[in-house]
Amino acid sequence: NKVVLAYSGGLDTSVIVPWLRENYGCEVVCFTADVGQGLKEMEGLEAKAKASGACQLVVKDLKEEFVRDYIFPCLRAGAVYERKYLLGTSMARPVIAKAMVDAAKEVGADAVSHGCTGKGNDQVRFELTFFALNPELNVVAPWREWEIQGREDAIEYAKKHNVPVPVTKKSIYSRDRNLWHLSHEGDILEDPANEPRKDMYMMTVDPEDAPDKPEYVEIGIVSGLPVLVNGKDLSPASLLAELNEIGGRHGIGRIDMVENRLVGMKSRGVYETPGGTILFTAARELESLTLDRETMQVKDSLALKYAELVYAGRWFDPLRQSMDAFMEKITETTTGSVTLKLFKGSISVTGRKSPYSLYRQDISSFESSQIYDQADAAGFIRLYGLPMRVRAMLEKGI
Ligand code: ARG
Ligand code: SIN
Repeated sequence: NKVVLAYSGGLDTSVIVPWLRENYGCEVVCFTADVGQGLKEMEGLEAKAKASGACQLVVKDLKEEFVRDYIFPCLRAGAVYERKYLLGTSMARPVIAKAMVDAAKEVGADAVSHGCTGKGNDQVRFELTFFALNPELNVVAPWREWEIQGREDAIEYAKKHNVPVPVTKKSIYSRDRNLWHLSHEGDILEDPANEPRKDMYMMTVDPEDAPDKPEYVEIGIVSGLPVLVNGKDLSPASLLAELNEIGGRHGIGRIDMVENRLVGMKSRGVYETPGGTILFTAARELESLTLDRETMQVKDSLALKYAELVYAGRWFDPLRQSMDAFMEKITETTTGSVTLKLFKGSISVTGRKSPYSLYRQDISSFESSQIYDQADAAGFIRLYGLPMRVRAMLEKGI
């Protein structure tokens, strides 16, 4: 029998290879997804996987799929977890896990494995995706089973099994990077009172060191999905990469928060989402032209639930999929462009336009207009305020 392992080439996943062979007596197919975590991490990976005892390494470039089918729908929905988190890691797990299910079918594996700890969200996201797409696959989560406790144990285990210990020295932080974001957890961040160190950040410059001159960026959106940056037509992944560059140099999109994990504990995390923050700001701003009051309220209330489902790993839940159909319909006319000004970590909106704009200057203007007759307002206010007048009359015995 065969198992497909989510593999990064780091120490932890390198040790899982011999551990699976020893404890489950199976062949190990390593699987690495490119979700934009940085290409240098891919170099020499096959040799590394084989040196750890894998029979094969499968690499899949999922960048476009990730941005188009996972990130953009969340953006269109306006999904934000616990007021701040733009779900970078949460969105990446289902696209990777789905590709693992496909890989298992291709290589004839009956099991899948991942290197997530038993204390986090990621294990849930991987496994719910496995369940949803192939309930027959066995799932092995070594961190929930083995004796290995920390880095020292892992190095010892690697040496005993002739697995080359990766030379790249491990960062003190637990990080997860993809095209949308970079997360930092652990070490000094575990005390929520500690300010992150300046040298921790990797995608964004310190806003204090950002250029003294603002930069304008124009985002073009069609039906809730971004397609243009400064008039340039770009594929989803290259559009996001471009905005990460632009936002990164102005220190845009740093988030520091304490969040509630699905498994119940609170955890402190710091996120860098430069391009994503630009896109969220633009999409919301465009909706201020294209959505009426009640539609926007219903959309926002559903977005909360949508974000919760994505955070909890329920990407392939029909509930999220149905909500997505709603989001697609409701944003049909969210088309147009938004101009933003980036300056030392902040974004201000300087302009928005849409061919479907519900804003009408001829109605809203302080100049007198035909369509809106101010005399109508008197009757409207009397009826709108009827319940208030009735209550006041009761109190006063009128
Ligand atoms: N707390 C974030 C989340 O649950 C980030 C998790 C980062 N994952 C990791 N394996 N380092 O989505
Ligand atoms: C992990 O525990 O594997 C990383 C953190 C998380 O999944 O929330």
